[in-house]
Amino acid sequence: MVSFNNVTFRYNDAARNALTNLTLEIADGEFVGVTGSGGTGKSTLLYAMAGAVPHFLKGDFYGAVTVDGLDTIDTPPVELAKTVGLVMQDTDSQFVAVEVEDELRFGLDNFGVPRDEYEDRLSEAFRVCGISPLRNRIIRELSGGQKRKVAIASILALRPRLLLLDEPTGELDPPSKRQVFHTLTELNKGGITVVVAEKNAALLREFCGRVITLEGEGNAEE
Ligand SMILES: Nc1ncnc2c1ncn2[C@@H]1O[C@H](COP(=O)(O)OP(=O)(O)OP(=O)(O)O)[C@@H](O)[C@H]1O
Ligand SMILES: [Mg+2]
Repeated sequence: MVSFNNVTFRYNDAARNALTNLTLEIADGEFVGVTGSGGTGKSTLLYAMAGAVPHFLKGDFYGAVTVDGLDTIDTPPVELAKTVGLVMQDTDSQFVAVEVEDELRFGLDNFGVPRDEYEDRLSEAFRVCGISPLRNRIIRELSGGQKRKVAIASILALRPRLLLLDEPTGELDPPSKRQVFHTLTELNKGGITVVVAEKNAALLREFCGRVITLEGEGNAEE
């Protein structure tokens, strides 16, 4: 599903590489955790899978990343977005709507999804994330954990085959963190390839099929 072939990336004006000589393969259907201390390139790795690096976040890029056989350099990010969904780190700042359901509808509108598919996609995304009862709630009145699930549901409604999440459990309390990981496990069982960046390696070891540790300067160990 994903292949990094000797990838090195340095952001413009950065003093050092964010990724260095990174080679890795992620098979269809895997649930992979990416850990490592601050600044070791976890977010950059996910951005490279979504094509945001180097199309939006610019820098010197060497090597090749392919996603579902598509080379991310040759493929516009909107094309990649048909396969890849990215849930960003700071989900609170990503919401555009006031009510939960409208947040999901907004994504479908942007994707040009046919109207007659809306209800199926919405009810499925709410159900898998366990937030069907929140459908008509005001987003800013939800708890942190509920908001994270809304953010995940809004990406899921786009039906990605590769789901990327950048520290999706951020400041959540331990029970809410585990709930989010249970949701990811269910999604993965349903056939979606999941890659999650998370500083808490123990949480990853408990839930993921494989854990990659970034060591800085782009070296990855399993
Ligand atoms: N937009 C940017 N411009 C320049 N340098 C950047 C940019 N974003 C990240 N970097 C640098 O790239 C390296 C990797 O950063 P990245 O954000 O991928 O690490 P991370 O493991 O996700 O860190 P964190 O745990 O803090 O989220 C760091 O040295 C960081 O300072
Ligand atoms: Mg990060």
